[in-house]
Amino acid sequence: MTEILDGKWLSSTIREKLKEKTELLKGVRLPQLVVVLVGDDPASHTYVNAKEKACKDVGFISKVHRLTADITNEELLSLIKSLNEDETVDGILVQMPIPKHLDSKAVILTIDPEKDVDGFHPINVGKLHSNEKTFVPCTPLGVMELLKAYNIDVSGMNTVVLGRSHLVGRPVAQLLVNANATVTICHSRSKHIDEICRRADLIVAAVGVPHFVKKDWVKKGAIVVDVGIHRTEDNKIIGDVVAEVMDVASYMTPVPRGVGPMTIAMLLSNTFDAYEQHMKG
Ligand code: GUN
Repeated sequence: MTEILDGKWLSSTIREKLKEKTELLKGVRLPQLVVVLVGDDPASHTYVNAKEKACKDVGFISKVHRLTADITNEELLSLIKSLNEDETVDGILVQMPIPKHLDSKAVILTIDPEKDVDGFHPINVGKLHSNEKTFVPCTPLGVMELLKAYNIDVSGMNTVVLGRSHLVGRPVAQLLVNANATVTICHSRSKHIDEICRRADLIVAAVGVPHFVKKDWVKKGAIVVDVGIHRTEDNKIIGDVVAEVMDVASYMTPVPRGVGPMTIAMLLSNTFDAYEQHMKG
């Protein structure tokens, strides 16, 4: 029988623990996350509202700068620099994607790596590659925490990551390597993806294509983590993996209530870590 990797449950547990730790901080400065949102992409607005609410629920201070799409690079970078210097700010997140006329690389490079709770700064990416403690992007970290919570040890496993994005595919693959898995990354130019998947003990699907992974691609007893989130025309939320994979997988994340809720829990966790390091420093 397939066991559900319940991200909703784990996310609530993590948030509850963070709330308890934050309550103990009464009388001292509280952790603060500042989110910068540029433009009017509806999905980004929804994500940012959820991040703001989650921060408030655990007792963090949360500020959102909602900027119009016509902001210049200089104005955006100058805001980030002022947040870097603000001693009351522990974490900075610029919601991606940002409008095309803005330079996202410069934005990421400008964020102080010690406040980079997204783990996007090249210094933090490099540390992840060197298996040093650092801020790790929230969705990949959420995937690993979910596996850990169900005592799944990936060491020695034949794992396949579908997708090579900087946000999910690459960091997930690196985390799996760091945890001693054998890792294959498949992407849009890969050939025979179905055959590669059939050999996998663990598949992480982060391709961004609805129902990309089919039932006959999955070995009996394999673990399947679905990072995809897509809204159908009839307003249902579906993932990158067809639901029938449940018939063959040993463990599987549902969509919704799987990896999705873990992303925000990890953002809160990274923000708390940034706060603790900031207070020590
Ligand atoms: N856009 C989609 N996911 C993310 C994320 O985890 N961080 C940021 N900054 N932007 C995103």
